Amino acid sequence: MAEAFFLTNTNFHMPDRTFKKLGNFIHSTLGIKMPASKKQMVESRLRKRLIELKMKSYNEYCDYLFSPDGIEEELPEFINQITTNKTDFFREPAHFDYLENHALPKLVKGLPPGRPRMIKIWCTACSRGHEPYTLAMVVNEFAAKNPRLTLNFSILGTDISPRVLKASRKAVYPHEEILPVPLALRKKYLLRSKNKKDDLVRIIPRLRKMVTVRQMNLIEKTLDIKPGIDIVFCRNVMIYFDKKTQDELLVKICSKLRSNGYLFMGHSEVIQSQNYPLIPVAPTVYIKKNDTIIGQRVMNE
Ligand SMILES: C[S@@+](CC[C@H](N)C(=O)[O-])C[C@H]1O[C@@H](n2cnc3c(N)ncnc32)[C@H](O)[C@@H]1O
Repeated sequence: MAEAFFLTNTNFHMPDRTFKKLGNFIHSTLGIKMPASKKQMVESRLRKRLIELKMKSYNEYCDYLFSPDGIEEELPEFINQITTNKTDFFREPAHFDYLENHALPKLVKGLPPGRPRMIKIWCTACSRGHEPYTLAMVVNEFAAKNPRLTLNFSILGTDISPRVLKASRKAVYPHEEILPVPLALRKKYLLRSKNKKDDLVRIIPRLRKMVTVRQMNLIEKTLDIKPGIDIVFCRNVMIYFDKKTQDELLVKICSKLRSNGYLFMGHSEVIQSQNYPLIPVAPTVYIKKNDTIIGQRVMNE
């Protein structure tokens, strides 16, 4: 206790030089911009690690992180600390209304009854799972309202942070986090912990089975995911990237989306859609132009 007190109150101060080194590393490995205004945030997020590792300065931490052992052992923890994982169930709810009432009906339009259709959804920065499980609830509701169609859904959630991926797989949430889920859906898709005192809920196994999660760094040159995706959710992650990284990511996403597939971005992530094969259809919702339109545009240019 005495030691913890001593360490939390040590005058930890990150020299500008150390921040620059860490900032450049964060930018080149995660794509996340690190202007000088973020120094305090980095300092406070890493302070906990310094205390846990019983280190005396940010320089010592930096030397460890960049050592061969540190890159192997500490990098995942560093990523956990540096990334911002804020998320919610039914975050930006207009997107889920649009999905249920416009995008899904359009994707299955003309599908003969009984002909199975697999709809592939990719949630590019899934954080602790609230977004992919919200999607799972919405598509399940849609399937239940359209029993004549044989619909299957696969939802892939990816993220860079090992900690959030673990939480996504576990799919256990404090009760207060499920408040945005409509009551009828809570009853259908959430299980209360047996121990009432825990005040925890878990996503039902059937929905958990629909969602697969795995690690992916969106700034990698090639993203390990097959093209032909029907729906991409890429919300509240681009804001952390610089313009060039955003542009490259959008090109990669477009190459994975099928013609007439949908892209949902965060509310502050408006795209200059004319730069990509995308047409805006609702606020921060885009549809990928079908190949003939793209072909015509190329021919006319
Ligand atoms: C603010 S959360 C957004 C979560 C969710 N999409 C939402 O809108 O609620 C941003 C997520 O992006 C992830 N992230 C940051 N940089 C990334 C990268 N280079 N590749 C993949 N994921 C990244 C973070 O780990 C974090 O979980």
